[in-house]
Amino acid sequence: MMMGFEKWLGDRLNKTKESGKFRTVKTMNAGPSPIMEIDGRKQLVFSSNNYLGLANDERCIYAAETILHQFGVGSSGTGITTGYTKWHLILENKLAQFINTEATILFSDGSLAIFGVLLSIPEKGDVILCDQFNHVSILDGCQLSYAESIHYLHVNMEDLEEKLRDSQDHKRRFIVTKGVFSEDGAVAPLDKIMSLAKQYQAHVIVDDSHGIGIFGEKGRGTCEYFNVRPDIIIGSLSNAVGAEGGFVCGSKVLIDFLRNHAKTFVYHPSIPPSICAAAYAALEIIETNQEIRKQIFTEVNYARNQLGDMGFYIKGHLSPIITVVIGDPHQAEAFSTRLEEEGIFVPLIPQPTNISRESSINITITANHTHKDIKYLLSKFQMIGKEMNII
Ligand SMILES: Cc1ncc(COP(=O)(O)O)c(C=O)c1O
Repeated sequence: MMMGFEKWLGDRLNKTKESGKFRTVKTMNAGPSPIMEIDGRKQLVFSSNNYLGLANDERCIYAAETILHQFGVGSSGTGITTGYTKWHLILENKLAQFINTEATILFSDGSLAIFGVLLSIPEKGDVILCDQFNHVSILDGCQLSYAESIHYLHVNMEDLEEKLRDSQDHKRRFIVTKGVFSEDGAVAPLDKIMSLAKQYQAHVIVDDSHGIGIFGEKGRGTCEYFNVRPDIIIGSLSNAVGAEGGFVCGSKVLIDFLRNHAKTFVYHPSIPPSICAAAYAALEIIETNQEIRKQIFTEVNYARNQLGDMGFYIKGHLSPIITVVIGDPHQAEAFSTRLEEEGIFVPLIPQPTNISRESSINITITANHTHKDIKYLLSKFQMIGKEMNII
């Protein structure tokens, strides 16, 4: 190894530490549930994407277990070799019906679905207009794409329109946005985005990884909520669905195109068949059980109002993610550490770009939390907020 390699990395890591953005990985000694043993200490977890409690739902576990015994542990290949079983087909058909599109293609995870789309569809001479706070895989996918990419201000329709107007010389225009922004709980105004897209003849790509299962009467996501049909809908199965994997939904020709051109489909192994069965069971639960969503939003609204009344600055008005703005990253880190000392686990999520954002603590309320859990969380927020002179 070349001399100085560790020193070079160490110096860079020290800068990360100085900026207050150094993270350590904690070990969970249990499956996903609101109370977990983390690094040997019992903690009440408010940072899980297991919104509906389906990652540990007995019906999903049973579905996975049955197929696990029949089909084995791994998928053993990519979708075009031996990795595409009857259960992949069943799940793709289920997703197409659930999202209400012609067809669906599965990927190993949501990020690879995003790469699959962004690296195969936009061509040289095209432009991608990308919300500045999109998921890191979208930001990276835009950079890696053959098309030019331009960021527009977060959920700012005036800025998007200006950029659409200024990019009319490009061959084709794409708008890419998340449905729900997990970093600040914002929901993209898809109705407005769709009408701008129509006006300026742009194609719309929606990454609804945090909207599916949560938004819309049947839990079909933010596109159901806004009653819109973008050209491409991307999703992750690792959030509300509680499983693993990613997918793209759209027209049959889009899906056939991706099966042939998306390298992250062609060259990456499929998800295991047992996971397909668990995701299938989860989707059946999501579309028939509106009560879980209602229960979450009752608790989210309660917590959001209480935190606001205490004097915290809160963002995110529609989603189950409550963003408590702290501002200074060192103070946010200290707040998160104090919460952990009090038995509440809400780690800070590092920002993927250099675009400066206020540091915040993102609380996620799930269907598994009780009202008592939420009251405990609120009492600790009030105590630490006062202690640190934030409220
Ligand atoms: C908006 C968004 N898109 C994509 C992903 C990536 O999905 P996955 O975890 O399946 O790679 C995530 C992760 O949660 C996400 O938040």
